Amino acid sequence: MSIAIETTTVLAASTVQAVGAVIAVLTTIGFVAYVIANLRAGRDEVGSEIELAPNRKPYYDDEQLETTKLNRTLASGVVLLGIVAVCLPLYWLAEPGRQEGAEADMLRKFTDRGLEQYEEGSQCANCHGPEGTGGQAPYTLFDANGGFVANLQWRAPALNTVLLRFSRDEVFNIITYGRPGTPMVGWGAEGGGPRTTQEIENVIDYLASVQLSSEESQEAVAAELVADLGLLQGDDLEDPEKVAEAAKNIDYDSLATGEALFNLGRETGFASGAYACGRCHTRGWSMITEGDGAVEPASAGALLGPYTDYHDGSGGGIAPPLDDLLPRKFASVDELAEFVSLGSIDGLGFGIGGQGSGRMPGFGDDPNTEAVADDGQYTREMVCAVARYAATLQGNQEPLPEVPTTVAPPPTTTTTVADGEDAEESAAPTPPFCSDEAIEALNP
Ligand code: HEC
Ligand code: HEC
Repeated sequence: MSIAIETTTVLAASTVQAVGAVIAVLTTIGFVAYVIANLRAGRDEVGSEIELAPNRKPYYDDEQLETTKLNRTLASGVVLLGIVAVCLPLYWLAEPGRQEGAEADMLRKFTDRGLEQYEEGSQCANCHGPEGTGGQAPYTLFDANGGFVANLQWRAPALNTVLLRFSRDEVFNIITYGRPGTPMVGWGAEGGGPRTTQEIENVIDYLASVQLSSEESQEAVAAELVADLGLLQGDDLEDPEKVAEAAKNIDYDSLATGEALFNLGRETGFASGAYACGRCHTRGWSMITEGDGAVEPASAGALLGPYTDYHDGSGGGIAPPLDDLLPRKFASVDELAEFVSLGSIDGLGFGIGGQGSGRMPGFGDDPNTEAVADDGQYTREMVCAVARYAATLQGNQEPLPEVPTTVAPPPTTTTTVADGEDAEESAAPTPPFCSDEAIEALNP
């Protein structure tokens, strides 16, 4: 498939070149012929300039000049004008296609260079897996005094959905500065790394070429939930039709579903945690401690408690602890869910007194497609389920058994409806973010 695309772009490029070459050759031949004809016209008659000089020849008489000659000149003008009239629109018609072709060709070059970076130059693939499907990175754990504790692996999240949760600029910043305290180092010059801005842009172009669609991502999450929540077992999990059928039975109102989403992939390694909240919001979440040889020396396994035994939402390297979110940070689950859906934006406030840095991803809405809402990694129902679970978290304490009730905010309908025109505009208040009404409106 990609080979087919490549050959057509190469062919398109060479057609343009071939046409150009033919025109160049014809022009050269014409010019040489003109020069030869001129030379010959002059040569024979050396010495006879007096009779032959053009200005001494009698010119056409008036009769001929004003009819035949004039008509011929005008006719040739009309013909040339006709050619221009036909060719110019044709050129205009073809121009957008040519520009698109040139752009596609450029993007293909950038993507190829990005692929080279991803696989060879910067070895992103070593940790993040081929085509950004997720992997792991070696990590050495030290104690507070810098003493060696163990060698283990750290989850390197799948990047084939990274542009569904972060904007291009945010991804650029992550790659430039890395994630201090994790195996992800800064690759850009400002982050102390070896790569130029152009090289990082190319890697992002490559990542853009391997992104899942929002539907593919949401289906993958649903399938993982089906397995996690035990809605199907064994071989049935391999049958896409049965999985799709079972996915309809996921109970998005239950806290168990929210908890599974919060920790998606912790047990199974699914996408190395790319769809989970815990990898940023829970201490020790990304350290892989289960499985043969996961921890070296094996005896260190018994020492890992202080690094890994934390409740969900205890707070991670870059992300704050999640505790008492309602009503400390958000007035309602709907507002909390809307924040989880959109993520944070650098320099913009959120919730009650929150200050965004652009490092909290948006799970329900692709920030790179501003015109389209709800086209993210999660469906609206998933966002609301995980938000409900997040509302029960208490940092590193036992979570609350249920979502705390909040006082409903006063209705926000405008009361100053003066004339008929305004009345229509303010008639329908938007339903709360997680209400059945809002969710049904998304899946008619
Ligand atoms: C040595 C292993 C390693 C290499 C090489 C590496 N990364 Fe990472 N990267 C990680 C780990 C581990 C994380 C997760 C850090 C954390 O836990 O927050 C990460 C996180 C990221 C993230 C953030 C993803 C998210 O959703 O939070 C992006 C984007 C990223 N890496 C891109 C790249 C690119 C592009 C390259 C190549 C230029 C690269 N990485 C090379 C290990 C690596
Ligand atoms: C890539 C790391 C990362 C992931 C994954 C992540 N978050 Fe966050 N989150 C952050 C950061 C960083 C902040 C702090 C705000 C900022 O810096 O913009 C934050 C802030 C928040 C806040 C506001 C907390 C406060 O007190 O200000 C909530 C709520 C939240 N995240 C919920 C979630 C949920 C739910 C998920 C999973 C669906 C999630 N986060 C996944 C990094 C992450």
